[in-house]
Amino acid sequence: MLRTRFTETFGVEHPIVQGGMMWVGRAELAAAVSQAGGLGIITGLTQPTPQALREEIARTRDLTDKPFGVNLTILPSITPPPYAEYRQAIIDSGVRIVEIAGANPATHLPYLKDAGIKVLHKCTSVKHALKAQQVGVDGVSIDGFECAGHPGENDTPGLVLIPAAARELEIPMIASGGIADARGLVAAMALGADGVNMGTRFLCTAESPIAHAVKEKIVANTELDTKLIFRTLRNTARVADNAVARQVVEIERGGGGFDDVRELVAGARGRKVYEDGDLDAGIWSVGQCQGLIHDIPTCADLVARIVREAEELIAGKLAGSIVEAVAR
Ligand SMILES: Cc1cc2nc3c(=O)[nH]c(=O)nc-3n(C[C@H](O)[C@H](O)[C@H](O)COP(=O)(O)O)c2cc1C
Repeated sequence: MLRTRFTETFGVEHPIVQGGMMWVGRAELAAAVSQAGGLGIITGLTQPTPQALREEIARTRDLTDKPFGVNLTILPSITPPPYAEYRQAIIDSGVRIVEIAGANPATHLPYLKDAGIKVLHKCTSVKHALKAQQVGVDGVSIDGFECAGHPGENDTPGLVLIPAAARELEIPMIASGGIADARGLVAAMALGADGVNMGTRFLCTAESPIAHAVKEKIVANTELDTKLIFRTLRNTARVADNAVARQVVEIERGGGGFDDVRELVAGARGRKVYEDGDLDAGIWSVGQCQGLIHDIPTCADLVARIVREAEELIAGKLAGSIVEAVAR
């Protein structure tokens, strides 16, 4: 059993979280991860309205009685969604865990804490993790440069970011970005993390509600097959290397701004990729760890495999190599 400060604080069996994923974090996936003993997370904004989120939470509850969370991604936006209403839907539905990402969680925190909700904040720097600790979150999830989605602008990979954060933080911390198997989990724990958050790995599971062609593409892809878009806008996103991502990078290189790529990066186009399996319909988030993914398991098999292999690694290979090194 891998018990950590994270499993204790958040009341889950295994220190494995399925991070919020736009268009993907629906009831089927979150429930499957939670049923497997991990922490499944529904993505709030995937639902078109706060009422639809209430219904999605109820649907998740029908599928599992284990704890699950809701992600609220509060990225700065010209026309922001009604965050407060989404937050209220989460509170009214009796959800016990919320993942906040995208900006300082301080505005939402008092409402969530008053409702007795455990809050995990996802960020990409030690500075922001410390800020989140200071404003009172219960844990942080810290995303290294390898991650899918928004890695921030510091380009610090997990191998450095995780121990740097572990040195400063007092609350439980989970490592995110680039983790797809037991080796990643054990390494993250050796670096000082209390568990892991995985996006890409759970994107490529049987219960992930996306077209099979996308999962097959992830299996076929290597660690080299991602692109960083929006670098010039200082809003970097790691996405799959496809015709649209290459076009966006080209436009940025030529001095183009957001208006020049707006149509290419539209959310509706990205959604088409997941729904129809048309891999060049738009941009779609994926991390470098796709190079470590070679199958499409159920969440139950995946979580059980990661936990079993992590325990074997710790008690077997690593313990053995320490003995060997001492003996030599
Ligand atoms: C398809 C996809 C969509 C994502 N959408 C969101 C999102 O809406 N909000 C968020 O906080 N993180 C989002 N992420 C990031 C993940 O929650 C997680 O932090 C990241 O995938 C970790 O890196 P990994 O893919 O290497 O495991 C997304 C990731 C993927 C793969």
